[in-house]
Amino acid sequence: MADPYRIVVLASGSGSNLQSLIDTVHAPGGTEIVLVVGSRDGIVALDRATAAGIPVAVVTLSGRDRQERDVELAHVVAEARPDLVVLAGWMSILTGAFLDRFPDRVVNLHPSLLPSFPGLHAIRQALDWGVRWTGVTVHYAEEVVDGGPAILQEPVPVLYGDDEEALTARIREVEHRLVPETVRLFAAGRVHRDPTDRRKVLISPVEVE
Ligand code: GAR
Repeated sequence: MADPYRIVVLASGSGSNLQSLIDTVHAPGGTEIVLVVGSRDGIVALDRATAAGIPVAVVTLSGRDRQERDVELAHVVAEARPDLVVLAGWMSILTGAFLDRFPDRVVNLHPSLLPSFPGLHAIRQALDWGVRWTGVTVHYAEEVVDGGPAILQEPVPVLYGDDEEALTARIREVEHRLVPETVRLFAAGRVHRDPTDRRKVLISPVEVE
């Protein structure tokens, strides 16, 4: 039997994207979420993990240096021996002290078509700007916030009369498909960065016998 493909998920909030992974790709012994790390105690994402029997940890920033937090975070995550780390609503900037420990193995989810509307409140930014389309991006996490190359992107229309709640619901639906799809592609070994131009990401086709 093939070795399990080990996922660690980092989350800060409600964890609906974590839930989409639990519901669609999490299979103990197969593609397995082996640890969920929360950025603070009491977040719903941790309850969702516990309900699914997945181990949890909390690594907070409060009262200390980001670098110091990231050294601890890297240690906690490394102990779980991840093949892939998924930032699913992780709302805290990560430094090289964390990212350099897992090169090309950390992916982030963002609720816009990057490079439009990086940072906080991406959905509100899109509404305020008056764009007709926004969307979802899953990309390699790098030290520049929301700056790594895109792996999957999908547009979402902004409809006349949308408020933040309505547009968020439409974006979440897409996120809940794209995040599991990203994990499936990684687990199948189909995601590659071009070594000569690391901004380019190749999704290789399924091998047909
Ligand atoms: C998601 O919409 C995700 O795109 C966003 O936080 C939400 C988390 O939802 N992430 C960012 O804005 C990161 N820059 P969830 O906790 O229900 O999965």
